Order: sequence, then structure tokens, then C-alpha cells
Amino acid sequence: MSRPVIVVHGGAGDIPDEQAEGHRLGVQRASQVGWEVLTAGGSAEDAVEAAIRVMEDDEVFDAGRGSFLDLDGALSMDAAFMEGANLNAGAVAALSQMRNPISLARLLVSAPHVLLVGEGAHRWGEQHGLHRCSPDDLIVARERERVLAHQGLNDTVGAVAMDLSGHLAAGVSTGGSPLKVPGRVGDVPCIGAGIYADDQVGGVSCTGVGEQITRIVMAKRCTDRLAKGDVTAQQAAEEAIAYLARRVHGEGGLIVLSHDGEIGCAMNTQRMSRAWITPDASYVGLEPTD
Ligand code: GLY
Repeated sequence: MSRPVIVVHGGAGDIPDEQAEGHRLGVQRASQVGWEVLTAGGSAEDAVEAAIRVMEDDEVFDAGRGSFLDLDGALSMDAAFMEGANLNAGAVAALSQMRNPISLARLLVSAPHVLLVGEGAHRWGEQHGLHRCSPDDLIVARERERVLAHQGLNDTVGAVAMDLSGHLAAGVSTGGSPLKVPGRVGDVPCIGAGIYADDQVGGVSCTGVGEQITRIVMAKRCTDRLAKGDVTAQQAAEEAIAYLARRVHGEGGLIVLSHDGEIGCAMNTQRMSRAWITPDASYVGLEPTD
């Protein structure tokens, strides 16, 4: 039997002081919910979905309710899900009427499609038992004010888990970058950029400026580095962020969980909220030095 592990992040960026406590509490709660799923014998997939749903429902995070808006003041959310056992993956982009985009991405894992966008994704979700909501249920006053004030920062939520069988799953969900051009999609629904999971190697979930993360295919790059077997999960995470900065002047962060249960986390942003729970320890961090 494997040792279960859940690792979550609530996004990297210039998280303002007034949201710091909300971020800490939010990632702690999400990791706890994922942990309870794992210790009850649930799958890594169930734990990742449950943890990310907690953060999508928490308006402090840029995912689900509370997502950033685009330049037109409209909502456009992306999410992706990947199973490490068989490399099946599902992703959605440009959603405005799904309360929990991660659940739609997970449903797609067992469909013949990998990526669905916009109205087609909403319709497919409804056909498979999910309910549409109104965009107004997800848009919060803080984000309407941000559009008016033209302020920017980066965020996203994600999780990687290993269950008692040793299987890995990874997920990521975002409202995208603040004040984005309508139609813009970042790294999140690009499998290999925003997430990757392979039971034989490890799982990764990224956060930060999606264009830069996509250009270096950061999650797969980190997994490939880990697969060489001569670095720890922490070293693989640090190398990925160093390459992001060096090669594309990128800003972001990532969480890594290796197939043998090692945790890694790195960022080059001002802050990144993250939390994890293992059978021996639990951790919550926000500052790079935490
Ligand atoms: N990393 C989220 C985005 O850029 O859309």
C-alpha cells in the first residue's frame, strides 16, 4: 500500500496583503478535503477534483467563482485534469457557465475528446449531468472593480495527489490572467504546459503567466527532468522555474509530486499559496521563504 499525499496551490503572483490570510486558509482547507478523500480510500482523481472544487468555490482564488474577468468584463475559465495511470486527460477552455470547470475537465478524461471549448463544452457538460449556472453567479464585485481599475496579478489553482494504490492525478483551474484580451487562453488547458501526470514519474500543476509557461511546456518539461532519476522533486521544480526565467523571462510557480511521494515546489513570484499533507506532516505556505 502507498503513502497518500495531497499537494495543492492557490496561485503564484503578487497576492495582496488583504488576501494573504484568505489564501492560506483556502489552500489549507482544500488540502484537508483532498486528504480526507485519500485516507477514506478514495482515488487520487477524487482527491484532486475535491480539492480544486473547494478553491473554485472560494472567491479569493482566480478559478470558478471569483475568477478574473477579461477586458470586456466577461468571464472565461479554463481547466484541465490528467490521470497518471493511463495518461488520459481532459481539458476545457472559455467557460462562463460552469460553477466547477474542474469537474467538466475530469468528465472529459473518459471521453474521446481531450479539449472542448465555449458553448460546445457547456452543452457537452449538460449532456453528461452537469448544470449550467449564470455567469453572474460567478462574477464577484472585486473583479468588476479590477476591470475598472486596470490592476493585474496572476493566479490559478491546482492539485496533485497520490492515493493508497500509488496512482497519481493532477488538475488545474483558472479564470486566466486579469484583463485578458477576449478569446485569450493560457497554459491551463494545454496538457503538458499547465499540468502533467504519469504514475511512472510524477505529477505537476503550474501557475503563473500562461503564455510563458506554454512556450516552455513547463509541466511536461519538469516531469521529463524528474524521469531522468538524478534529481529530487524539489530540484526538478527549481530547475523548471530557473528555465522559465532564463529562457522566456517568465514568472510563475509549480507543485511537483514524484511517483515515490517526494514533494517539490518553486516560484519566482512575490508569493504563492500552497499546502500539502502527508502521513507525517502538513504544511501551508505563502511567502517564498515559508
Ligand atoms: N496560468 C493561468 C493563465 O495564464 O491563464
